[in-house]
Amino acid sequence: MKTHNSSIEHLQAEFDARIAEDAKIEPKDWMPAAYRKTLIRQISQHAHSEVIGMQPEGNWITRAPSLRRKAVLMAKVQDEAGHGLYLYSAAETLGMSRDQMIADLQSGKAKYSSIFNYPTLSWADIGAIGWLVDGAAIMNQVMLCRCSYGPYSRGMVRICKEESFHQRQGFEIMLTLAQGSEEQKAMAQDALNRWWWPSLMMFGPPDSESANTEQSMAWRIKRQTNDELRQRFVDQTTPQADYLGLTIPDPDLKWDAEAGHYQFGEVDWDEFWQVVKGNGICNRDRIRQHVKAHEDGTWVREAAQAHAERKAAAAEAA
Ligand SMILES: [Fe+2]
Ligand SMILES: [Fe+2]
Repeated sequence: MKTHNSSIEHLQAEFDARIAEDAKIEPKDWMPAAYRKTLIRQISQHAHSEVIGMQPEGNWITRAPSLRRKAVLMAKVQDEAGHGLYLYSAAETLGMSRDQMIADLQSGKAKYSSIFNYPTLSWADIGAIGWLVDGAAIMNQVMLCRCSYGPYSRGMVRICKEESFHQRQGFEIMLTLAQGSEEQKAMAQDALNRWWWPSLMMFGPPDSESANTEQSMAWRIKRQTNDELRQRFVDQTTPQADYLGLTIPDPDLKWDAEAGHYQFGEVDWDEFWQVVKGNGICNRDRIRQHVKAHEDGTWVREAAQAHAERKAAAAEAA
C-alpha cells in the first residue's frame, strides 16, 4: 500500500512540474482523474456547441440573399462541423467514447453553448452571429491554443484560423446592411439588440460564481477568467459597433478613460441560467433536430463500419 501511495505522489509531482514548466500533457501521460474529467466535460461541451451551432445558421442557407452569400455560409457551417469532429477526437483521446458523448448530449446531461438556443429570425442574424458569436468564440479560443492538454491545444490552433474568417464574414454582412436602405439598417440594429446580451453570456457566469475557473487556471487549461474575457470582448466590439453606426443595447455602456476599458451594464444571469437549464426558446428543437439527424445518418455509420470490417478481414487474409 505504501509503495502504491508513494508512486501516485511521484506521478502527481511529475504532472505538477510539467504544468509549471508549461509542457504539454499528452494522452498517454499520467494525469489526475479530476483533470481528465474537467477536460472531457469542457472539450465535449465545446464539440457539442460547434455541432448544435450549425442549426441556427443552417436555417438560412436556403434563404441566403445571393449565390455568393450562400456559398460563404455553407463553407462556414461546414467548418463548424469540422470543428466538432476535431474536438470529439480530442475528447476520445481521454478515454471517452463518441457514442457516450452523443448520448449525453441528447439526454441533456451534457451542455452546449446557450447562445445556440436563440432563434435566427432574419438574415441580419447571420451577420450578428458571425460578428458577435464567432467573435466571442475567438476570444475564448485563442487562450485555448495554449491549453496544457496537447490534443486540445493543437486542435484549437487550426480552429482559430477558421474562426477569424467566420468573424469577418459576419462583420461584412453587418456592414453591408448598415450601409444599405433604412429597412436593412433597422434589420441590422434589431439583430444586434437580440444577440448582444446572449453574446456576453457566452463567457460564462461571473468569476465570483464560476465553480471551475480557479482550478482550470491552476491546471493551465484556461489562461484568462470569464470576466477578463468578457471585458476584452466589450472593449474590442464597441468601437466596431460605432464604425457600423449601430447602437449597443446597453444604456450603461461608457468609456472609462482612467481604467482604459468600457464599463457596461449587468448581464441578466437569471435568463442565462434558465437557458442553461433547458428553458430557452429553442432548446427542445435543437435536440429534437440533432436526434433526427443522428438517426437519419445511421446507415452511413453502418456502411462505414461494414467497409472497415471488410478491409480489416482482407488485410488479415493477405
Ligand atoms: Fe467553430
Ligand atoms: Fe465559427
